[in-house]
Amino acid sequence: MQSILSDFLDKWVYPTGFSGPGVEFRLRQTERCLPLWDKLVSQALQFAENDLKSGSDEYKAVRARAGYAAEGPFMSLKQMSTQILSVTVDEQPKYIDLQRMRARQIWDEVKHGQLHADVLLRGGFIKREEDLMDGARANTQPKLSYFGMTAMFPHIHPLARAGQHYYNESMACLGIAATLSVIDDNLIRHQLRSQEAEERMHFMEGKYQIDAYALTPEDQRPIEEVFDFLLRPWAPEPSRALGGSK
Ligand SMILES: [Fe+2]
Repeated sequence: MQSILSDFLDKWVYPTGFSGPGVEFRLRQTERCLPLWDKLVSQALQFAENDLKSGSDEYKAVRARAGYAAEGPFMSLKQMSTQILSVTVDEQPKYIDLQRMRARQIWDEVKHGQLHADVLLRGGFIKREEDLMDGARANTQPKLSYFGMTAMFPHIHPLARAGQHYYNESMACLGIAATLSVIDDNLIRHQLRSQEAEERMHFMEGKYQIDAYALTPEDQRPIEEVFDFLLRPWAPEPSRALGGSK
């Protein structure tokens, strides 16, 4: 196992303030995630090394355009508003913690879009953020996402998002750690350092939701279905912003 993954597991995955069926369910899902998390770290390290060997600065712009498309207002406003809509008014007293965390994540992800725009601006790849509207690559992201399809799922279970938080936001953390271990460019490091604590919070939101709320088979099933979807073979490819090839 990659040391970046074992370090993440020891610090963030295994310690918990909870006990009981939510934790047991999460640890079962964790076992399913481990091989893919490990593969992601290996890939992110390899892609970062390839970027360094490329002999040009273009990789910085490629990463930033992909990150701009995969985070920022487009994805985050759609995804988070979908998740907020999944909690009905009468469920709000039960799930108010979730609503608060999702509201916060809108801010985080919009900031992440701005961080990628900053790399492009400060790196001299574009003159104004509006220039990004001319490039398809800054406005499309190839990753499948359970919640990437606008507000089509107001009927989903309020806890379903926890599966994506747990599986994908951990990948953001791992991809950032892997990239930081290889790339010493100041622009990239500033962007990743400004983002990393927030990605960790998004992962911890998934962990907290599962440990604290996924206590019955009825509440666990919709989360497990998200893991089933995300753990398919297309999932391990990290986004280009985190060192993937696309
Ligand atoms: Fe983000």
